[in-house]
Amino acid sequence: MTQAAVIAEGLVKEFGSVKALNGIDLTVERGQVVGLLGPNGAGKTTAVRILSTLLTPTAGRAMIAGYDVVKQPEQVRKAIGLTGQAAAVNEYLTGRENLMMFGALYHLPKTYVKERTDYLLESFELTEAANRPAKTYSGGMRRRLDLASSLIAQPSILFLDEPTTGLDPRSRLGMWDVINDLVANGTTVLLTTQYLEEADQLAQQIVVIDHGLVIAKGTAEELKDQIGGDRIEISIVDPSRVNEAVDAIRAVASGEPLVEELKISAPVSGGSTVLVEAVRALDSQGVEVSDLVLRRPTLDDVFLHLTGHVAEEDKPAEKPKRGRSRS
Ligand SMILES: Nc1ncnc2c1ncn2[C@@H]1O[C@H](COP(=O)(O)OP(=O)(O)O)[C@@H](O)[C@H]1O
Ligand SMILES: [Mg+2]
Repeated sequence: MTQAAVIAEGLVKEFGSVKALNGIDLTVERGQVVGLLGPNGAGKTTAVRILSTLLTPTAGRAMIAGYDVVKQPEQVRKAIGLTGQAAAVNEYLTGRENLMMFGALYHLPKTYVKERTDYLLESFELTEAANRPAKTYSGGMRRRLDLASSLIAQPSILFLDEPTTGLDPRSRLGMWDVINDLVANGTTVLLTTQYLEEADQLAQQIVVIDHGLVIAKGTAEELKDQIGGDRIEISIVDPSRVNEAVDAIRAVASGEPLVEELKISAPVSGGSTVLVEAVRALDSQGVEVSDLVLRRPTLDDVFLHLTGHVAEEDKPAEKPKRGRSRS
């Protein structure tokens, strides 16, 4: 099949007077990882729930592996490895037993389940606690067991809604490894995240949404380029030399320099060779510089530029609600 794994067109979802989605278009090619990035309340979970047949869209349509989410929900569920009901972790079973149970639930071969269980326990740092009942686990360990359970099967298309929110940094890296392994084995992944760095690390394509609308899409590099690419930034020592410094920077820049007190910045192209040219130009103008850097915009800059607010991780409301992992 040449069709994309996930196609959404004009998805709208209204909850009473709340418009959670305002007409979302989205494509995930087979074998790709797409990151759906957006602040709290942007509509990420709503989008994922529609794509996984758990919610019906108010308008628009979505196809998963060629199947319509509204008209062919059974086929869609098979493609995304979603069982009928979301089975929860069993308190009285050990971590290992829980994973084995999920494997049985999916009718997966026993030898596969055993191998996969060992791998997931290791990836989520639960090997030592594997033979203890889940009820003895800390909040962080439960969350990791939860994630591991959801990854026992390797469906052809996988949706992950904020898979690393609330995980400690080490477990986050473990999760990234598991996702990368899945992708290496051919799984297509759509993940939502509030972490810009995560989208940057994992996703080939990033779709930024806000207020139920797609406000930007592209690779991390393309998004960074959208807001102007690299900038050179210099700080000068003598305020009376500003004009000479601006002239020197203008000569190497690709756009008009911006002056903020002793700091002068300008868009540039051509990478680090620009730095050498800038040093020469400043030198020939006799301008003394206290700092000189080439700054690549981060996804944080992109996010701020697009949404007018900083990314979620800075907001106290976005702190993990489950409490810190004590494991
Ligand atoms: N079941 C619901 N009933 C009413 N409003 C909802 C419901 N689910 C989500 N919303 C609203 O829809 C918007 C998008 O929510 P959501 O998809 O959960 O965003 P995100 O996952 O990006 O944080 C929010 O304003 C939220 O309050
Ligand atoms: Mg959500």
